[in-house]
Amino acid sequence: MNKLAPSILAADFFRLGEQIKEVENAGAEYLHIDVMDGSFVPSISFGLPLITSIRKNTKLIFDVHLMVTEPERFVDQFVDAGADIITVHAEACTHLNRTLMHLKERGIKTGVALNPATSPECLRYLYNYIDMILVMSVNPGFGGQEFIPETIKKLNDVRELVKMSGRDIDIEVDGGITLENVKSIVDAGANVIVSGSSVFKNDIASNVREFEKILHA
Ligand code: DX5
Ligand code: ZN
Repeated sequence: MNKLAPSILAADFFRLGEQIKEVENAGAEYLHIDVMDGSFVPSISFGLPLITSIRKNTKLIFDVHLMVTEPERFVDQFVDAGADIITVHAEACTHLNRTLMHLKERGIKTGVALNPATSPECLRYLYNYIDMILVMSVNPGFGGQEFIPETIKKLNDVRELVKMSGRDIDIEVDGGITLENVKSIVDAGANVIVSGSSVFKNDIASNVREFEKILHA
């Protein structure tokens, strides 16, 4: 089942609550929440208080993407703030297995994100602990960047690896996704689609509906 995960990084923070309601009412399934620490990535976004505050007002699945060095220091607080899925970067964790096991113990879904230069091979011995693989289609840190075309080949590879693992693992893609390229991304193997700037511009509800139409065609 394909799902849309609008990234609030591209929202108008003055009207954040309103805009979250708009994507929810238009049929989005997830809310993608980009946490940046200014160390793992060259930008700082927002953190725990924002998540706690929006959690009270929406039933959307909170898909929290931690672009944070050594995220194990914070994962418990993100679980407590209301995350449903926590994705950590393979490149940011010294003890990735331990971090994933800990998240499993906390009873939430786990994701591992891979930067464009990182091979999915590093996940070979971790499939039992992973619910979602997040394939970055831009270098993380900013919204509104161009989709990196080599991601299509990587998605094909990840789809094969997931098939071989025999596990039911979602494949999420993040960065530069538009109404024009989303079909080719789904055809390549992705089933969770993050989109920031293509959702939070002009008519937000209509953007969500157009994405949903393609995702559920
Ligand atoms: C990039 C973030 C993305 C970003 C996507 O570091 O992880 O989630 O918000 O935004 P667009 O869709 O504008 O590329
Ligand atoms: Zn993201």
